[in-house]
Amino acid sequence: MIRLRSMERINILKTTEYAGKKVKVCGWVHSRRDHGKLIFIDLRDRSGLLQVVFSGELYEKANKLRSEWVVEIEGVVNERPKGMINDELATGQIEMKAERLEILNKSETPPFEVSEGSEGIKEEIRLKYRYLDLRTERMKNNIVLRHKVVKLIRDYLDEKEFLEIETPVLTKSTPEGARDFLVPSRLHLGEFYALPQAPQQLKQLLMVAGLEKYFQIARCFRDEDLRGDRQPEFTQLDFEMSFPSQEEIMEIIEELMIKIAELAGKKLTFKPFKILTYKECMDKYKTDSPDLRKDKNDPDELAFAWVVDWPLFEWNKEEKRYDPMHHIFTSPKEEDIGLLEKEPLKVRSWQHDLVCNGHEIAGGSIRNHDPKIQKKIFEFVGLSEEEINNKFGHLLRAFEYGAPPHGGIAMGIDRLLMILAGEDSIREVIAFPKTGDGRDLTMEAPSDVSEKQLKELGIKIRKKD
Ligand code: AMO
Repeated sequence: MIRLRSMERINILKTTEYAGKKVKVCGWVHSRRDHGKLIFIDLRDRSGLLQVVFSGELYEKANKLRSEWVVEIEGVVNERPKGMINDELATGQIEMKAERLEILNKSETPPFEVSEGSEGIKEEIRLKYRYLDLRTERMKNNIVLRHKVVKLIRDYLDEKEFLEIETPVLTKSTPEGARDFLVPSRLHLGEFYALPQAPQQLKQLLMVAGLEKYFQIARCFRDEDLRGDRQPEFTQLDFEMSFPSQEEIMEIIEELMIKIAELAGKKLTFKPFKILTYKECMDKYKTDSPDLRKDKNDPDELAFAWVVDWPLFEWNKEEKRYDPMHHIFTSPKEEDIGLLEKEPLKVRSWQHDLVCNGHEIAGGSIRNHDPKIQKKIFEFVGLSEEEINNKFGHLLRAFEYGAPPHGGIAMGIDRLLMILAGEDSIREVIAFPKTGDGRDLTMEAPSDVSEKQLKELGIKIRKKD
């Protein structure tokens, strides 16, 4: 049956513009108070809360309402008498006198009161009932802020003539230092796709393709041990441009960050951002992501700093080999290339990281575009000719066809949002995050799959010893 529209529904926040008029609102019962012959409810929709009064014929029906029931109400918006104005509510100067109440859906008693927030509630409960958790004011605000920041990023980069380009999620593993999530191929038994740890090689190929300025709000996947600022699945603002200087990349990102800080009502410790060399940073702060806030108790302070002049390699004691400090595509500084054989730890790179309040929020570099130098670095970290061809043949081949000098950066959107929202964990700014042990409690993933599915993929599960 098609439901005929009687009256246009308006957002709760809009009701303030309708004093003296009749309107229709829809939403959830946030709270209910019984005052003898009157029932008061706070009705909630995404835009806010509205006090609704029921009396007379509607009393009995309204008396049945419980938390989180979904209702449609028509009524008249009235100015509240002077003494009854509630300054804490955006609609606190008005209330609605209900004339019609329709119960659209009931709700089980929720495992926690949405109206009281979910701060003290066990995270397992919050994640299992994430759709209720997201109804709380704090979580909703985090999601709204995330939307606004991402929109600002898109608008800003569009204005600067960057193209938003999607790269595949089913792809080949790119070595970003973590373990890959693998996806078995049904059509090519025994072969696997990898989910991207980052779209690194693809964005470099887009530069070879002559697209010059790329960005993507890119989902990345890394199978690594989790902590508060790490998720197995997270989002980057991924960014690459052709013919850039390092300064230019830093300037574009810095201008963007200043706009984001403004949007979030934050103040900056450094403007322009502080620039530290890796050596200065380690000598002075003993960490590569220092917290440089003047007042660490000020929730509105953002201390952004760039760290540059990183060593190209670090010595991996366990594996007894040189590992790239950033990733293997980062370009050494031209004047240091001569040191590669004799003093590899002294070779500096064109890496640039952005830190904020003690977190690394972005990392990037100028890349190798000369296939000979890129190959030399593959060889230096101990890759055999065969491994180079298998893993990176496509990239080296592309570099033979007129690869422009290029460079870029990727910013952790979740980490930035965590800092902006004043949260301790990136889980608080992701709609459906994974737990510390990598589970999605809302969807109950990972989960078993059927024998049939496994068979099609040629997979046999070996029981744990
Ligand atoms: P990098 O590996 O430094 O660089 O990642 C860039 C930024 O992504 C965020 N980040 C994460 N956020 C949440 N959970 C994780 N597990 C996680 N891992 C990383 C961080 C980090 O600063 N391709 C390169 C970028 C480039 O060179 O352009 C890359 O991915 O905020």
